Amino acid sequence: MKLHRKDILGIKELSVDEINLILETADSFVEVSTREIKKVPTLRGKTIITLFYEPSTRTRTSFEIAAKRLSADTISISSSTSSVVKGETLIDTAKNLESMNPDLIVIRHSAAGAPHMIAGVLNEPVINAGDGAHEHPTQALLDMMTIRSIKGKLAGLKVAIVGDISHSRVARSNIYGLTKMGASVHLAGPATMIPYGIENMGVVVHTQIEEAIRDADVVMALRIQTEREKQCIFPSLREYARHFSLNRRNIGSAAKDVLIMHPGPVNRGIEISPDLAESANSVILQQVTNGVAVRMALLYLLAGGNA
Ligand code: CP
Repeated sequence: MKLHRKDILGIKELSVDEINLILETADSFVEVSTREIKKVPTLRGKTIITLFYEPSTRTRTSFEIAAKRLSADTISISSSTSSVVKGETLIDTAKNLESMNPDLIVIRHSAAGAPHMIAGVLNEPVINAGDGAHEHPTQALLDMMTIRSIKGKLAGLKVAIVGDISHSRVARSNIYGLTKMGASVHLAGPATMIPYGIENMGVVVHTQIEEAIRDADVVMALRIQTEREKQCIFPSLREYARHFSLNRRNIGSAAKDVLIMHPGPVNRGIEISPDLAESANSVILQQVTNGVAVRMALLYLLAGGNA
């Protein structure tokens, strides 16, 4: 099956069949990263540009590793070292990069909708690597891949997402994806961090972490995004941690084989206790490993696999 779309901008617009295709393609690429020579010629001669207007460790590195493992050439641009600092607009930047004939552009931007805007003016595929508090589709795909690879399914699982839901593009993309795939999604966080009307996305909202976690198959802690808070929406980090940090005590009510997830970067001791982050139930680093396979799949499907 082919992916009949030019861009990956969000999980909202993906069908169940498309998500399954991406996850199955990602599964098929896992083995490449275990080889001694971690390279296949699939995208030889293709050029992938990563354009990051926000900091990143995991997403950017794994897109670049994914492209290199597919033999594509990669060019990495940070807004801080580009002509963006001289006032060049996003559209001008994108059109100038397009003039050098890349085959695909990956973009992260603090403004929701920025990837959609450039996708509308470029002929090449665009992948959203995170836009403001809107969507982070590749993170949700790697999260679904991780859950599915261990639990064998997504449908019927109880997934608790805990923390700063309001500012979290990871939460939004996972809610779209997990509900589509048949999981039951429960949210918990301070009332000030739960968007009004989010129940309309098909989730159950709790104000006590214990209620969300009870019998959960998966618990996903979210990063507190201090950089996106315009005003103080909780009294202090210590107060937040007292009520919403995942720890040995509250995780006890989850399923015994619960998967503990976090998109990173982790604020240890705030969103999750350090011992839990490193426990046998934690799959935080497996999420990162699977990120490479998911991004290989997307680059293949958009930049070469449909040929
Ligand atoms: N999960 C995630 O998006 O991490 P980075 O910000 O390091 O890319």
